[in-house]
Amino acid sequence: WPAFAEDIEAILALKRERNAIILAHNYQTPEIFHCVADIVGDSLALARTAATVEAQVIVLAGVHFMAETAKLLNPGKTVLIPDLSAGCSLADSITAEDVRLMRQRYPGVPIITYVNTSAEVKAESDICCTSGNAKAVVESLGVLRVIMLPDEYLAQNIAAQTDVQIIAWKGRCEVHERFTPADIRELRESHPGVVVLAHPECPPDVVAEADFSGSTAAMSDYVERQRPPRVVLMTECSMSDNVALAHPEVEFIRPCNLCPHMKRITLANIRTALEQNRHVVTVGPEIAGRARLAVERMLAV
Ligand code: 13P
Ligand code: SF4
Repeated sequence: WPAFAEDIEAILALKRERNAIILAHNYQTPEIFHCVADIVGDSLALARTAATVEAQVIVLAGVHFMAETAKLLNPGKTVLIPDLSAGCSLADSITAEDVRLMRQRYPGVPIITYVNTSAEVKAESDICCTSGNAKAVVESLGVLRVIMLPDEYLAQNIAAQTDVQIIAWKGRCEVHERFTPADIRELRESHPGVVVLAHPECPPDVVAEADFSGSTAAMSDYVERQRPPRVVLMTECSMSDNVALAHPEVEFIRPCNLCPHMKRITLANIRTALEQNRHVVTVGPEIAGRARLAVERMLAV
């Protein structure tokens, strides 16, 4: 990619100079994902890696809640996010006060929060989950009923796989809520034999029509293991781009939706982040202590 060469060279040099590492989510563009990232993966993999990195500086190429999670697990390190406004509609759908009210309304019922939330919200919860471990986290608690916040569809999709009763919130991912079962039926008609993979933030009727549902890492592993001749990933657009580059033998059909928050991260602002040490992610010690517990409990499941 000659157009990106200068930024890529500069970022690779800055990483060495600053003892920095770049963690990139699967929704980052291919030039970030394939050319400058040290670790790529789903939210769970990024959280697990963040707990073990040795570098002094972590640049999070992803959205704000991911950078906050990395900071919670590395209080002594510098965590940078190249654009502070890289948010998430799920994280924006709930406040710490909402969680406190849910606890009052359902006394004694454990609260699981999706990692796609602010540190303040995590601090009010008992344990976190990601799309990759949500069912395991629900079942790890050994109770009949849990509260799972804030993604209504994820909660419904997990409820369909377990006997544990799940009380949901009303948050939605603005990217995945737009897929419909009609999209899948049209795809199957226009592309016979296509294998449909859907992220569990999609509506339950979409997941029901798909051939497989799983986290971004699980979708990537599915393609790696099964090598379907034709596949569609009902998720963010860069995901197909990144997986397709590694699998030229697979035909990727590409109706997809862009996440405007993920797309705020670019090579140019990653370079500036490392050059100017910005934007430094901070979480107050009191919130951080409680939020870290919820994340660590998840990582122990
Ligand atoms: P994953 O944890 O599956 O990578 O999903 C994160 C996300 O933001 C999906 O929209
Ligand atoms: Fe949030 Fe959806 Fe974007 Fe993921 S894709 S960061 S859940 S808005």
